[in-house]
Parts: sequence; C-alpha cells; structure tokens
Amino acid sequence: MSNIPSDKAVLVTCGLPYANGKAHVGHLRTYIPADIFVRSLKKNGQEATFVCGSDAHGTPIAVNAEEMGITPGELMQKYHVHFNEVFKKMGVNFDAYGTTDDAENQNRTLEIVNKLVDKGYVYPKTIEIAYCPECDRFLPDRYVEGTCPNCGEKARGDECDQGCGKHLEPGELQQPLCTICSGPAEYRQQEHFFFKLSEFKDFLLEHLENLGGTINARNYALGWVKQELTDWCITRNLEWGIKFPGHDDLVVYVWVDAPIGYMSFTEQWAAATGGDWEKFWKGDNPIVHFIGGDIIYHHCIFWPAMLKGADYSQPSAVVASGMVKIEDKTFSKSRGYVVWVEEDYLDHGFHSDLLRYYLASYTSHTKEVNFSWKIFQDKINTELVGVFGNFLYRNLLFTFKNFGEIPEGDIDPEIMDKISSTIDDVSKATAEYEFKKAVDAAMALASYGNSYFQANEPWKLIKEDKEACGKVIKNCIQLAKALILLFEPVIPGSMEDAWQQIGMETDVHTVTYSEATVPVESGKALKKPGILFVKVEDDKIAEMDEISSGRIQKAIAKEAGIEEEVKMEFKDEIEYDDFAKLDIRVGKILSAEKIKKSKKLLRLQVDIGDVEPRQIVAGLAEYYQPEEMVGKTVNVLVNLKPVKLCGVESQGMLLAADNDEDVSLLSTDKDMGPGAIIG
Ligand code: MSP
Ligand code: ZN
Repeated sequence: MSNIPSDKAVLVTCGLPYANGKAHVGHLRTYIPADIFVRSLKKNGQEATFVCGSDAHGTPIAVNAEEMGITPGELMQKYHVHFNEVFKKMGVNFDAYGTTDDAENQNRTLEIVNKLVDKGYVYPKTIEIAYCPECDRFLPDRYVEGTCPNCGEKARGDECDQGCGKHLEPGELQQPLCTICSGPAEYRQQEHFFFKLSEFKDFLLEHLENLGGTINARNYALGWVKQELTDWCITRNLEWGIKFPGHDDLVVYVWVDAPIGYMSFTEQWAAATGGDWEKFWKGDNPIVHFIGGDIIYHHCIFWPAMLKGADYSQPSAVVASGMVKIEDKTFSKSRGYVVWVEEDYLDHGFHSDLLRYYLASYTSHTKEVNFSWKIFQDKINTELVGVFGNFLYRNLLFTFKNFGEIPEGDIDPEIMDKISSTIDDVSKATAEYEFKKAVDAAMALASYGNSYFQANEPWKLIKEDKEACGKVIKNCIQLAKALILLFEPVIPGSMEDAWQQIGMETDVHTVTYSEATVPVESGKALKKPGILFVKVEDDKIAEMDEISSGRIQKAIAKEAGIEEEVKMEFKDEIEYDDFAKLDIRVGKILSAEKIKKSKKLLRLQVDIGDVEPRQIVAGLAEYYQPEEMVGKTVNVLVNLKPVKLCGVESQGMLLAADNDEDVSLLSTDKDMGPGAIIG
C-alpha cells in the first residue's frame, strides 16, 4: 500500500453525508478516523487540506421532503446546518464544508458531464424504467423496491442494500414495488443517458492495482471489475438535482454530482484561502478518500472512470471502514437500531473525545464495529482514565505539590529513545490506516510512564534526595509532553487542556511531533492540575442501554401494528413576518375539469376578486368530482410563484386539510365575497 509521500500537500475527503437525516454514530466512523489522519499528517509536518460537504441531491431527499410537505431544498438546508454543527462539536475540522447544490458544484458537474459527452463517453438509449401506474410517475432509485437480480435479497432501485451491496441499474430490480403507494410498479420504456463504463475496464484494472488505502476497498472493486462492467445510466426522472444538459426533464444521477463535490469543495477552500485546487485534481498531489465499506463500488469504479474520462487526476487512496452495527444489526432508523450523535450522546453530557477514542481504538479500521455502551465504558475507564489520565494526573499533582514548577535535570536518553520510537510506530500505523495500532502504541507509552513513575518511587525519593526526585519528575513531564502530542489527533479537546497543564503556551494543534523530544523547560511554574477524564459510571451506561432497547421495542411494536402515542413533530418555528408574506384570499370556483394526462390533477378557474380569474391546478381529482367543485367558496394562496404541472400553468394554491385518508377544502364561515383577505 502506498504510503503518503511526505513532501507533498495531501487532500483528504470524507464520504458526503446525505442531508436527509440526523448524524448517527455510524457516520462518525468515516469522519473521526479521517480527522485523526489529517491531524496526524500535520503533526508530522505535512500540509493537508480536509474537505467535505452535504450530499444535497438524490431520491431519499426528494422522498422525505415530499412526505414532510416541504421542498427538498428546505430539507437539505436543515440537515446541512445540523451536520455542520455536529462536526464542530465532535472536533472534526474541515477546511471547507459546502453542499452539492452549491453553484461551484453545479458548474463543475456541468463541465464534467459536457466533457464526457463531447468525448463520446455518453450515449442515449431507450430502457425500461420502473413506473407506478397508481402514482402516475417514473420511479427512480429509492422510489422503488424489489428483489436483487444478483443475490435475491430485498433491494432498492439503485442498490442491493441488504444483500450483496452491488449498485443496480434502472430496470434490473425484480418484482418492483412503488415506495410511495406500495403498489406494484411496471416497467415502461424511456430514453436515458449512459456513461460508457465498459470502455474503462483496462484502465480500472490498472488503477485499482496501484490504488492505496485499505485492501478491502481495492479487492471488492477488483472483484466486480474482473467479472463484468456494464455501462452506467447517469440520468434520472426527477425535479430535484442538477439538470442534464439539454434535457430539462432529466437530472444527473446523484452519484455523478456527489463525488464531484470533493472537487468543488476543494475549489471553495482554494477561493477562501488563496490555495491551489488544481495541484490535486489536475496535478499529482495525493487525494485520499475516507468512506464506509458500503460505498466502495462508487468510489473505486464509477468515480475514477469519470475522472479519467474528463481528464482529471484520480484518487491515490480509498480508505474504507467496516460498518458500525448495533447488536449485530445494520443501522436502521425504522427498526430503532441507531445511536444519534446529538440526542443519544452529546446531549447526555459525554465529552466528544470519549467517542473519538472509542471509535479509533476499538478495532482495526476495516472491521465491523458492534456499538456497545459497555465496551465504550470499559475502554474509557481502563485505558483513558486508568492508564493515560492516571499518569498525567498523579505526575502533575505530585509536581505541583512538591515543586510548584518543572524541576531541574536532564532527560534520560532511554526516555528520549522511547518517545522517538513511539512516534515512529504511531506514524507508521497511521500511514497504514491502522488507527487502533496507532492509539495502542501511544497508550503503551503512557503505560511505560506509569511503570517508570512506580519503579522510581518519587514519593520516597522526595524525602531522601529532592534533586534525584526532580530528575525523575522532569522525565515524567517530558513523557507527558510527548503523550499529549501523540494523543492530540485522537482527543484534541482534552489535549488542549493538558498542554496548558504542563505549562505550554503554544497551540497544541499546530505544534508538530518534532517538539516531543525538545526538553521541557525547568523552572516553568505549574498550576494545580485538573482531572481530564472521569470514569463513566455503571448507572449512566444502564440509562443509555435503556434508551437503546426502548427505541428498538417501540419500533417492533410499531411494526406489529401496536401504535403508541407518539409526540407530534412540527415544522421549525417561524417569525410573524414569514407568515405575513403569504397573500391568502377568498375565492369562488368558476369551473373545474380533469387534466387528461393525470389521475390526480384538476384544472380550475377561480374568481379571486381580480379583473381576471386565476387558473389553478390542484391535486384533488381523487377527492372531488369536477362538477361538485363549481360554485364552492375556497381559500387561495395567490402570491405563490406560478409553476407548470403536467404542462398546465398553476397560478396559486387552494388550502385544504389532509389527514392521510381524505382531503377537504378550506372555506370561510360567513359569505365574504371573492378577494377578502385572510390572515
Ligand atoms: N451521500 C453518500 C456518500 C456520497 S460520497 C460522494 C452516503 N451518505 S451517508 O449519509 O449514507 O453516509 C455518509 C458516510 O458515512 C459514508 O462514508 C458512509 O459510508 C458512512 N456511513 C454511514 N453509515 C455507516 C455505518 N453504519 N457504519 C460505517 N459507516 C457508515 O453514503
Ligand atoms: Zn444483491
């Protein structure tokens, strides 16, 4: 595996979170190790740029927004803000964090797609697309569910998420069902655009042979490339997304514009700092992608082929983590198998560093992690509190009480050697993406520190020979200094405090490992140390376990049809001014007729007291007969931007109540006449 050369600035990216739900502990297995990696590179004196952003497009966001009755843009913004906040709270420090809906990404995507078209890598083809006759629409990706043709498991339109993990092309899914109405879908013909992935087979075989990162990523991708490479459908029938050039009814598939985000966020960073984004994407500075094991196919097959086709540089390494599970179950919000970062962790008063430590040190990066509060507690209590915390605290407290400052003395060569070799071990393990090994090596130095303190018995020496005792203590403080630098990438917040406790005034985040062997300054006054890590108590863990099992029970009950009282969820609070922007009027329906192409839509002419009546297209055909609507008094939102529905312009919206089963139009209590203001 190619290690990162130390003379060139490195670009590190993380799999972009879908902005359609909250951050959970599973997500963190991509972000925390990547953040540790970047901080470690900097500790080795290497320049690194760290970018990420929210994945704003795709069907999940469109589906969820539709269910919540808000626009995809609103939904995406809400979770974009959420992820940004969670990353700050967890100490994950991106140099740029945009969204794939940003102008930079829209432009870069168009540029790349046009380039691929110009170079003959894209062609149109009529294919079978899942279509729901009930909902009267095409069903891209997650709008359709069925059976995987490769392994027979239950799968989504574009991914066998519960079986073999393979990306699925439109039309491949068997026994398709519509996810909106649960009715059977059928296949209908439609023209779409394809990327000639099959032409990149030889390129990919060579690319993957030389790809750095973790072996699981390379091998998984090689397996698929060696078998077959079918061309890739890169357009979808969706409103939300980046329009496919020249075809207003199509957007590019989310997996086209999402990884291009890595490039646009680098551009955003460059624009903000005067940096150079082309040295990565057009030059040979290394690009390292951190992802979870679920999206290897996209990063090791589609993405490098797309970059190659559009004449950009390819990634040097793909680092794929094992998935985080709970009780051996894949994370599933609907089944209650989830641990939320804010509501299940930070809001319960846990320090971000504890979770960072647990995730980095529990097991090898490519292995699955079964999230367990019990193991979390054990690791924190025995290692962080029992070994490292104990070393720092008793050492600094002893110094403070007996010397009040860093005592005189030379550092033993053996101690300096031990520090240097630990730095080597940690750096080597980190360069191989073995975060557990790196943390264990640093923790071994803390253990050594405890043994050194114990063996030299400074509490006895202080009474017999204060100078000799001072020498032992100075060695211990030197070890503490090195340990703080070694642990900074993993637990940056706590190490900021620890750095001050040993009297350092520099910024622990920017100081490099080379400082670890610079002797600490004798005579430096020390303050009374505080305790950095506190034991996690049993009852706290019991409380957390109860929250988890309660959630799972609730989900099981829901599945079995036993509805519990659920607290209602409301939309975000607004100001009066937001409400005052709505211009709602009393109207009278003059005429109503069905729109031929649609099962749901009616075309209405409504008198709103203005010179001309308004034409309004309303999704009411399943609830009202056109005849019964004529003459009804209604409430009309009249300043809504006009839109075309099924080719017919709608110049407003009728207000109606919806209880999932029926829809009822709003009216006024007294006869007010068209045009009366509602507010
Ligand atoms: N939006 C895509 C990635 C596009 S990258 C151009 C996506 N989003 S995600 O929200 O589902 O996941 C974001 C990151 O978290 C990905 O790297 C994903 O692999 C990782 N993980 C999400 N759930 C995970 C676990 N349960 N366990 C480990 N990593 C997981 O995928
Ligand atoms: Zn499958």
